[in-house]
Amino acid sequence: MEERSPKNRLVAVCGKGGTGKTAFISIMTKILTQHDDQRILVIDADPAMSLANALGVQITKTIGEIREEIIKSAARFGDDEEEKLRIVNTLDYMVLEALAEKSKFGLLVMGRPDAVGCFCPVNDLLRDAIETLSKNFDVTLIDGEAGIEQIHRQVVRVVDTPVILTDTSSRGLQTAALIKKIVESKKLIRCKRLGMVVNRVRGDEEMVRGFAEKVGVEILGYIPEDENISHYDLRGQPLTELPDDSSSVVAIRQVSQKLGLLDGEAEG
Ligand SMILES: Nc1ncnc2c1ncn2[C@@H]1O[C@H](COP(=O)(O)OP(=O)(O)OP(=O)(O)O)[C@@H](O)[C@H]1O
Ligand SMILES: [Mg+2]
Repeated sequence: MEERSPKNRLVAVCGKGGTGKTAFISIMTKILTQHDDQRILVIDADPAMSLANALGVQITKTIGEIREEIIKSAARFGDDEEEKLRIVNTLDYMVLEALAEKSKFGLLVMGRPDAVGCFCPVNDLLRDAIETLSKNFDVTLIDGEAGIEQIHRQVVRVVDTPVILTDTSSRGLQTAALIKKIVESKKLIRCKRLGMVVNRVRGDEEMVRGFAEKVGVEILGYIPEDENISHYDLRGQPLTELPDDSSSVVAIRQVSQKLGLLDGEAEG
């Protein structure tokens, strides 16, 4: 059978702290991996590194640790340009070492950002290696911090689908408006679609809709308060094991369809 070419979509979620970014990415991973044979890469770009737990994956190495190894060896080799070149040439391989592979998806954890100083050349090289790796996957999902800049600097240059996650608090919505501004002003996106997902709604959708219209951002979906999420979190059970009919899973499936991430289902 002919191998299907990857769609190469890059979805990054950002938004105010605690709005449910990690839960969203975990549940979307569950949904996309259930759906035919898409190859999914998940990247944890949040230094707090909570995604591996939510996905039930054990990680052995982070990109941050690789960066430190490279910097240490580069220092050891001083002016030996040949050795430095050798390190650069093994970078793709080193990034693969940090890839935790489950049967249905791969996970990369960025880990801590630069501990000391700025090692921009190393970051650039690592970012190139991550971009090369992500080209082998149909969809790359990135769990980020509030801003999109750190993703741009350290993970990938271009995000085609930035998703702003917010709750219904005014701070969440203000952060969403700010992120939209940053994304647009810096032209960080070959944007297929910038959208907002509103999490933990409890019948207050109307108010948020008004805000979104004013700011000019499309609402991709509403996720209800789902007590299964809290129960799973409390027990340390991966969110990828949530039942298919759990209200949050149903809502995130609709968002995935709307974004055209599920094969054979049109973008809405
Ligand atoms: N729809 C929901 N229903 C119930 N609880 C939820 C829902 N979404 C998220 N939560 C809970 O809210 C808390 C924060 O969620 P999560 O860790 O996904 O947020 P985050 O945006 O990734 O946070 P951080 O900014 O710290 O990384 C968690 O305890 C999670 O269980
Ligand atoms: Mg998180």
